[in-house]
Amino acid sequence: MLAMHEPEAIIRTDNLTKRFGSVTAVEGLNLSIARGEIFGLIGPDGSGKTTTIRLLAAIMPPSAGRATVAGFDTVTQAEQIRRLVGYMPQRFSLYGDLSVLENLSFFADVFGVRGRERRERINRLLHFARLTEFRQRRAAHLSGGMQKKLALACTLIHRPQVLFLDEPTTGVDPISRREFWDILSGLHLEGVTLFVSTPYMDEAERCARVGLMYEGRLMVCERPEQIKALVPGQLLALRTPQLAQARAAVTPLPGVLEVQTYGDLLHIFVDDAATRRSAIEARLAEAGLPVISLQRARPRLEEAFISLIRRRLEEDGTRTMQGVMRDT
Ligand SMILES: Nc1ncnc2c1ncn2[C@@H]1O[C@H](COP(=O)(O)OP(=O)(O)OP(=O)(O)O)[C@@H](O)[C@H]1O
Ligand SMILES: [Mg+2]
Repeated sequence: MLAMHEPEAIIRTDNLTKRFGSVTAVEGLNLSIARGEIFGLIGPDGSGKTTTIRLLAAIMPPSAGRATVAGFDTVTQAEQIRRLVGYMPQRFSLYGDLSVLENLSFFADVFGVRGRERRERINRLLHFARLTEFRQRRAAHLSGGMQKKLALACTLIHRPQVLFLDEPTTGVDPISRREFWDILSGLHLEGVTLFVSTPYMDEAERCARVGLMYEGRLMVCERPEQIKALVPGQLLALRTPQLAQARAAVTPLPGVLEVQTYGDLLHIFVDDAATRRSAIEARLAEAGLPVISLQRARPRLEEAFISLIRRRLEEDGTRTMQGVMRDT
């Protein structure tokens, strides 16, 4: 028997694998998501996020392994799963010529929501998505952020217990992204399980656990704090106008584990910041490179992911970090 405090897994995968010809889009995925959890999936382009979500939402069968959602098998019980999950695809198609209200009505029809129930749910969703005053506006004439909220509202029309959201806020301005996440928090409070892929680290930080996919594999799956703790050593942030030269100068120094450029900063990971700092300063002075500031900094999720992927690539030997993570 399960202990009382142990949360029930609503999603479980066992060696879940999907191949498209010679490409293995998802490889040997083992994952367990608790009921009511907010789970974030991140990873570079083509790493298998969409494929994972489509497998879990019972849109397509795996090549090997299996997955269950609320105890239903995604292959043999796909119908049951579709009734209890909501899936917002990466490119959700609203009907541009239809109004907000008409789009919601259309999805209500698709899911067989009728009569009074339908009116009530639509009104509630309009309110929930803060779209009530725009209900007569054509979807094509909504802002990007409003379109995403409408897509979410359409996804919620049949009151799903589990929501799969594939990059639901990509390309949307930061204020709309925040508002979208406020809506997701409301769903979380209602007990809905949220499985969200995102390229945005601030959104990943809002998840209870985050999985990093890379080339079809789940490289790490932990709470954001635990992932940040995986970064090797300590971080010194250097501000200098000559990033490339500074990088070349400090990389070979003893105790320097890794160097990442981050905007106009150089992030230098060292085994011990207190002892290595002066050697770094001395080396920069010797090379005639100006130091605007050199400070201890706390690694964030992004540095942790880059570091994990870099270590994986170094194990492979041949490849570099070029273009691994999308800019956020
Ligand atoms: N239907 C398909 N047929 C063939 N290959 C596919 C198909 N769907 C995905 N792939 C391939 O599988 C891999 C994973 O793709 P997937 O779309 O799952 O990645 P992703 O992480 O969602 O990427 P993005 O961040 O660009 O959305 C890629 O190499 C992709 O080209
Ligand atoms: Mg995708």
